[in-house]
Amino acid sequence: FPLKDYNTFGIEAFAKQYIEIRTEAELTYLFTERKEITRQPILVLGGGSNILFTRDFDGLVVRINIPGITHAISSTAATVVAGAGVVWNKLVWYCVDHHFAGVENMALIPGTVGAAPVQNIGAYGAELKDVFVSCRAFDTQRGKISTFDRAACRFSYRESLFKNEAKGRYIITQVTFRLSLKPVINTSYGAINTELARRNITVPTISDIAEVVSAIRTDKLPDPSTIGNSGSFFKNPIVSRQHLEQLQSTLPDKDFVYYPAGDGCVKIAAGWLIEQCGWKGKRVGDAGTWKNQALVLVNHGNASGKAIYELSEQIIQDVERRFGITLEREVNIL
Ligand code: EPU
Repeated sequence: FPLKDYNTFGIEAFAKQYIEIRTEAELTYLFTERKEITRQPILVLGGGSNILFTRDFDGLVVRINIPGITHAISSTAATVVAGAGVVWNKLVWYCVDHHFAGVENMALIPGTVGAAPVQNIGAYGAELKDVFVSCRAFDTQRGKISTFDRAACRFSYRESLFKNEAKGRYIITQVTFRLSLKPVINTSYGAINTELARRNITVPTISDIAEVVSAIRTDKLPDPSTIGNSGSFFKNPIVSRQHLEQLQSTLPDKDFVYYPAGDGCVKIAAGWLIEQCGWKGKRVGDAGTWKNQALVLVNHGNASGKAIYELSEQIIQDVERRFGITLEREVNIL
């Protein structure tokens, strides 16, 4: 089964078998009544926007396409429930259109609702975990649905239980969010303020925020429908302040870009580190880094997954040599 249209990197790869799931019942049936199909390696795909295929997949790809968004309103908050297959940006605009605040800063993040908790998606000063209440997930070991509250998901920066301890075990089917009925405008991220000012917006609505964020993203990040990519390829590394100070004293001419990360630590902009190593906008065959954001690796056409992976290795080595910092990939590698 060809996977090229099912990964935003647009990598040519094949799976032995493919199945699309639209309900929890279908999933339960598949894993309990059709074990001859599920007794093989399994890969769960949502929007395919956070995976790099470096080889074919000798197993079953399960694509979660569970639809539906509903909501309930209490005096203080809106509870929104969405199927794992809902496109994330659809959910964002559903909330914005209903005046439910909390996800507008995460407008236009690629991928599905079901994939969002796996890496605790975030952007422009907001993170999934801040609006997350719980999710339902099929436990492939026990053959039944379990519910996970926020604490159980063990969220941290671009991490969760589903990416670590329980990797491959659960298939998220539904997510419940809690949104605010009072607009709480979050302009902690400088670029948002700049763009609001440019548009002469002084009292932004959540819809303004969603639009401004979408514009910033469109401007800075390549559109996967024309240039294959998976957003940020690496995580921003978290190092101790001490480590940073030591770097600053050995490289006094460099104006390090970093943010406080709590606990005597800072998060350094990986895009900046990569640019400093001369990689911004570079191309090795059809594999490259994006001209406006070096943290994003791109497929200019016919790059293989291996070529993109090798480019990422070279970048890791260069950043390590230059700064003594080891970049970690954010994208899942198969
Ligand atoms: N920078 C450079 N050169 C570059 C890229 C960035 O010098 O090529 C410096 C600039 O100073 C820039 C700063 O780094 O101001 C930060 O860049 P940016 O605002 O693009 O954010 P980021 O830290 O690189 C993170 C997320 C993005 C998210 C943005 C905005 C990670 C790994 N990435 O990127 O998320 O959209 O912040 O909040 O945390 C993703 O996860 O796929 C993703 C796109």
